[in-house]
Amino acid sequence: MRLFAEGFVWGTATAAYQVEGAWDEDGKGESIWDRFTHTPGKIERGETGDIACDQYHRYPEDIRIMSELGLGAYRFSISWPRIFPSGKGEINPKGLAYYDALIDALLGAGITPWVTLYHWDLPQVLEEEGGWPWREITEHFAHYADIVSKHFGDRVDYWMTINEPVVISYAGYRDGFHPPGMKDRKAALATAYHLCLSHGKAYDAIKANFPDVKVGITKVCYNPFSLYRNDKEAEAVELGLAEHNRIFLDPIVKGTYPQLILDRFEDDAPEVRSEDLSVANRLDFLGLQYYADAIVRDGKPGWPREGHRYEFFDYTEMGWPVTPLGFYEAIKWVHDEYLPDEIVITENGSAWQDVLDPDGRIRDVKRQKYLVSHLSQVHRAIEEGIPVTGYFVWSLMDNFEWAYGFRPRFGLVYTEFASQKRYVKDSGYLYRDIIFSNGIPDDVGE
Ligand code: FCB
Repeated sequence: MRLFAEGFVWGTATAAYQVEGAWDEDGKGESIWDRFTHTPGKIERGETGDIACDQYHRYPEDIRIMSELGLGAYRFSISWPRIFPSGKGEINPKGLAYYDALIDALLGAGITPWVTLYHWDLPQVLEEEGGWPWREITEHFAHYADIVSKHFGDRVDYWMTINEPVVISYAGYRDGFHPPGMKDRKAALATAYHLCLSHGKAYDAIKANFPDVKVGITKVCYNPFSLYRNDKEAEAVELGLAEHNRIFLDPIVKGTYPQLILDRFEDDAPEVRSEDLSVANRLDFLGLQYYADAIVRDGKPGWPREGHRYEFFDYTEMGWPVTPLGFYEAIKWVHDEYLPDEIVITENGSAWQDVLDPDGRIRDVKRQKYLVSHLSQVHRAIEEGIPVTGYFVWSLMDNFEWAYGFRPRFGLVYTEFASQKRYVKDSGYLYRDIIFSNGIPDDVGE
């Protein structure tokens, strides 16, 4: 048995837009994801998160399932337009009431809430005022963080400001397959920078309300897989690391901005003011997320979408290669470069074509293998002295997977969307066994 330390945090993660539904109920404002999914041609099969897993109404049942699985923690996000329908100004009391009820029910079940402030559902009104490329948005985000942490901070000890700034910047503003659907490098680089500033300002706002809570950011880690050790590939690796990792972690942790980005993108690079650097070094833990390596080939960094395909890897329903060794490398890279006090794995998981058998079981062998092989790499990093203190599976349940709609199923729990019935998959029971033994049993292999 490969044991974890006592107190190691075992959880699952979701995001508001992906599970809540109730998109226009109880005074909630429109988000950029509502607008985008309601625009024809943006999402596979025209699907939307209008109902999703209906967690807004069904959270008591979902919490019962979490208890059955023995989860110690649940990471979810707050929908900004539920609290501020217009992004700022008037507060919607029913929005606060929903999260009050959710948090209280979690605490009642002995499950620790881990709250993300921003998992991509920007109030549409703020997008229209300029969105993330607009510097002033950092003030609105800090205000939102202040109000929300003041309200929930007596019960929430763990906060994450922003989920995956890299996806917000590039999928939303450079490549256009997430809202607002822009294809503009300058806007994307400004977004990236403003997200760093927003993190620092939100950190200060939360800590001013409750100094003892822990505040982090979640960052999907780019890890290059390259077979060719030539100059062209080495350059692509460096660019990949700068564009996806350093562009966020340098400003946030070190208060510097990567020179490679300034050199390479010149006029498109953001305005870095000297006073900005004072919001650096605000991180009680780094939320690290990992799904797959980026395959570097022919001088291309290979991420997020245009990666080369090597047939010797197994590929998930997302078209991502299964590369567990890269998980270890990503953890080690981030540790060596930035030395965060604590690393928490805030997302890791895989999507497969699950089959609900007539006996109600989902025999999701590939997800079980993925879970064990990736968790083994976390264990290895810990054995080497890297302070990883928790692990969250993405996701608790199958949900709305952004531009891909409901096709990729990431859950430990199968969601039958038509009936909203939930079925725990075999991987969910395996995770329960891992949690109860606080380790990886030897008989489940690597
Ligand atoms: C991450 C997102 C999460 C989910 C997984 C599959 O990038 O944070 O919402 O979509 O990918």
